[in-house]
Amino acid sequence: MQIDRRAFFATLGTAAAINAMPSEALADALEHHMMGNLDAETTTNDLKVRRGAGLLFGGPGPSGKSPAELMKLEPMPEKPTLVDFFRYRFAPATHVLQSATDAMKKGEKEELILACLLHDVVLNLIKVDHGWWGAQMMEPYVSEKISWGIRYHQALRFYPDPSVGYEYPELYNQIFGKDYVPPPYVKQAYEYARNHKSYMDARMITVHDLYAFDPAMKVSIDPFIDIIGRHFKQPKEGLGYDNSPVAHMWRTLIFPDNPL
Ligand SMILES: [Fe+2]
Ligand SMILES: [Fe+2]
Repeated sequence: MQIDRRAFFATLGTAAAINAMPSEALADALEHHMMGNLDAETTTNDLKVRRGAGLLFGGPGPSGKSPAELMKLEPMPEKPTLVDFFRYRFAPATHVLQSATDAMKKGEKEELILACLLHDVVLNLIKVDHGWWGAQMMEPYVSEKISWGIRYHQALRFYPDPSVGYEYPELYNQIFGKDYVPPPYVKQAYEYARNHKSYMDARMITVHDLYAFDPAMKVSIDPFIDIIGRHFKQPKEGLGYDNSPVAHMWRTLIFPDNPL
């Protein structure tokens, strides 16, 4: 593989900066440069952002524009709390706030209200298989009822349940097309959840999900702060720094622009 030395050195900055670099760092930089060139040479499509990429990573938002384009990210506090994430990374979080507001207005239990509030926030990180990712991200900090509900709401969204007034979302006809059939693993997850004692913990998230796409409804995190305090085990070191098995997911949201 040919290396354009001039182009490579241009990526490193001024001559003084290059001279100051330890030879190991220079070797690393060269390797990265070569990997980038190799990928560019072997890639034939011009895809910019994958559809399953999270909102903070340029994934498509409802307006077609990504929040990354629309907003500059604020630095986060040293020991970030869940509420900090809502303020600095998930905002405006309209859909989950509307969903939790609907649950609250209809007198649901606090754990279900929190599940509604958290059910889609992982979409900032990644969209594909968001039920599974979202459940994992919350698991160390919430009851099993909440994480179980988040895990299975994704599959249940595709299957109506007239007993609680849940219909197949019209939105999905637009996203997936009218003839869409969920893949076998989603169907299996649905069937498993349907027969599980916790079924309603996931099903009720989908019910309140339906009433959470109203562009006119104003919402705020404030009514939920006490519920978060009672049901979300906030780590004292801050989310991202508590050495939990999912701390890296929260750190990725804190530093979405880190190159590695
Ligand atoms: Fe969802
Ligand atoms: Fe949702």
